[in-house]
Amino acid sequence: MIHPAVELDGIWKRFPGVVANAGAGLTVRPGTVHAVLGENGAGKTTLMNCLAGVYRPDEGHIRLDGQEIRFSAPSDALSAGIGMVHQEFRLVPTFTVAENVVLGAAPTFIDTSQIEQQVGVLADRFGFEAEPDRPVWQLSMGERQRVEILKALWRDARVLILDEPTAVLTPQEAVELGEVLRRMVEDGRSVIFISHKLDEVVSFCDEATVLRGGETVAASIPVADVDAAELARLMVGDTKVEGVPIAVAMPGDPALVIKNLSVRDARGLLAVDDVSLEVRSGEIVGIAGVAGNGQRALTDAVAGLESVESGTVTVMQADVTDAPPQQRFAAGLAYVPEDRLGVGLAPKLPVTENAVMREYRKLRRGPILNWASARSFMERIVKEFEVKIGKREAPLAGLSGGNLQRLLLGRELSGKPDVVVASQPTRGLDVAGVGAIQRLLVQQRDEGTGVLMVSEDLDELLALADRILVMNEGRVVGEFDAREATRIEIGEAMMGSAAGADT
Ligand SMILES: Nc1ncnc2c1ncn2[C@@H]1O[C@H](COP(=O)(O)OP(=O)(O)OP(=O)(O)O)[C@@H](O)[C@H]1O
Ligand SMILES: [Mg+2]
Repeated sequence: MIHPAVELDGIWKRFPGVVANAGAGLTVRPGTVHAVLGENGAGKTTLMNCLAGVYRPDEGHIRLDGQEIRFSAPSDALSAGIGMVHQEFRLVPTFTVAENVVLGAAPTFIDTSQIEQQVGVLADRFGFEAEPDRPVWQLSMGERQRVEILKALWRDARVLILDEPTAVLTPQEAVELGEVLRRMVEDGRSVIFISHKLDEVVSFCDEATVLRGGETVAASIPVADVDAAELARLMVGDTKVEGVPIAVAMPGDPALVIKNLSVRDARGLLAVDDVSLEVRSGEIVGIAGVAGNGQRALTDAVAGLESVESGTVTVMQADVTDAPPQQRFAAGLAYVPEDRLGVGLAPKLPVTENAVMREYRKLRRGPILNWASARSFMERIVKEFEVKIGKREAPLAGLSGGNLQRLLLGRELSGKPDVVVASQPTRGLDVAGVGAIQRLLVQQRDEGTGVLMVSEDLDELLALADRILVMNEGRVVGEFDAREATRIEIGEAMMGSAAGADT
């Protein structure tokens, strides 16, 4: 009899005030890609952390190839053949690709060119494009993820866990990842794949297990037998997912004005190259583009997190080009960064402190924070944005990925901003969460907020935006009316062919 590659059976994991896993189970057959699905906070990451030796379950059994095992550290799981790529990467930016791959697993001293060559061979075997001698800080998110996967393969992981790997990938990179995963399972390995994007699950995965409230509600469903809608129903139960009703925009005066803006990146290259654009009150302007074409430098520069080489940024007629972030917020700007934990939230502080960070000045008297109002402010956000938190005194780092995002969005949007700059606002959210955030952005627009929204999801931009600008190599290369534009036209502009462009 062939044993399952992985069997998790009756896994319980409790945190103060929360039961993250309540008897969850998972069975993964060797040579398959197995999806683990569920709403934000359903317990997916926790269950995988139990399998990867990050947490020790309170109760339950873990069997690999039929053998019961117990891990007390991630290194135990690694030696047993289990590798996990976490939602937040754990690489050393100043080290090269090859150095990161072998870090902690190089048997003795080997010379650099030898490791680089070996890492190159490994990458080729799985169909990765990798440049082993490049420092990691120069790499895109997609490239960094490949380094994480190579790290696991270098240690000969038989089971690879990927926690929302495609959240940081462009659609093209996601397809490539799918191909790499197929190659890994053909090689006899198993992959556990967490994603909120059900169309990916349908195209990459063999079987799916669905968690709800820490329990397994559907186990090992053959994916060939179901469609994305059926999977969504299993995840959320019978609750209906509402669509986003959109009225015609009634734009007012310019709220955010960017003129001839240029920004250099860490490498000294022009990441934003002479961009001019306007967002009026009451409209949503979408920025489309393949990741890495200057979107991030643009939004960071507007938020005051990146210095400007030339040009101006004006928020509600106040020139904030050189103003510190606080002053921009005071002028009416709200910012939802792509990197939620880097600049958006402070992982070591409790939920309440994170929730009030923006309102801090209003909620304090002298240097003393008014705790009662801070708490009620936090509780309002938690209720309105349906953030699932455990103990409010616990550090924020305990929140699930999607719940972190809800908290951040809630905090930024609840201050009645005049301008919202949002990067990938729905990334990492479950189906219901995506709908809730989209409705919120549209509602803000209808109340007169100007919204600048960066997204790699073209369908999302077409559904929500009034106008769509396309960025390519740091420049705005096209502008489209979102009601009339087609995916093809926008896609062509994204690839750099001129369409309505001023090139
Ligand atoms: N270290 C921790 N301390 C306290 N609570 C935690 C911790 N880790 C997870 N939790 C809680 O356990 C529950 C499950 O979280 P988990 O991260 O497993 O969800 P998830 O299914 O991965 O969600 P998402 O799709 O949002 O990433 C959540 O309520 C979360 O707040
Ligand atoms: Mg998670």
